[in-house]
Amino acid sequence: MAKTKLSVLDLLKMKRDGEKASWLTAYDYPTARFAEEAGLDMLLVGDSLGMCVYGYEGTVPVTMDQCIVHCQAVRRGAPRTFVIGDMPFMSYQKSDEDAVVNAGRFLKESMVDAVKLEGGRRVITRIKAILDAGMVVCGHIGLTPQSSGQLGGHKAQGRTAESAQALVEDALAIEAAGAQLLLLEAVPPEVAGFIARRLAIPVYSIGAGPECDGQLLIVSDMIGQFQAFTPKFVKKYADVAGVVTAAMKSYVQDVKKGSFPADEH
Ligand code: KIV
Repeated sequence: MAKTKLSVLDLLKMKRDGEKASWLTAYDYPTARFAEEAGLDMLLVGDSLGMCVYGYEGTVPVTMDQCIVHCQAVRRGAPRTFVIGDMPFMSYQKSDEDAVVNAGRFLKESMVDAVKLEGGRRVITRIKAILDAGMVVCGHIGLTPQSSGQLGGHKAQGRTAESAQALVEDALAIEAAGAQLLLLEAVPPEVAGFIARRLAIPVYSIGAGPECDGQLLIVSDMIGQFQAFTPKFVKKYADVAGVVTAAMKSYVQDVKKGSFPADEH
């Protein structure tokens, strides 16, 4: 039977029923197809595509146009999976108007189910403006890569009582603003668990421990494709870099030896 498309209400029901949501990033059509076939609940077209697809050092150079093209490919590959578009740096930082226009582009041009933006209380008016335009919003707090310079690098957040308290207040403000989903990145498990229990909306983890309502990983990390570094919280489920490099080496040898193409090719 074809998978039925999840809505934000289904994600809420999963939280209430204690069913964990499985979530990966995806940036292209084939990966989105594999994910839908594998039964993923959600996909994030993350601005991590800057590193994973374009070879940038971080997410900051990623543009709206790049995000839209990748969201369109993922939507085509996974028409029945809940797809979230990630708002890139400077697509919402300047004004509420910019936030609505750019969130609207995600919806109009690539038919995503929701948009995600980084930040807590400081982006509350942005979140409200996008919600007022009728879209679904996923908040993102903890380690927020777009502002990692202010955080002193890609560092776990919420490790002191004061910063844990600030995270809780950000989470409560995001929920009070009306956001339907929240992602916690690189937050101690006990702080993440507390927030997940405290909030009625689904709260997901990337490197924030097992007590959240679902887990997100960057697909290029979990399939062993991205090689620059692997965060400690990642479980590698495959060695795509190894498999592909070995296949290419065999091809090089076959061509040099003249054993490819053979008669059957
Ligand atoms: O861009 C992305 O993939 C993200 C995750 C790191 C949460 O925002």
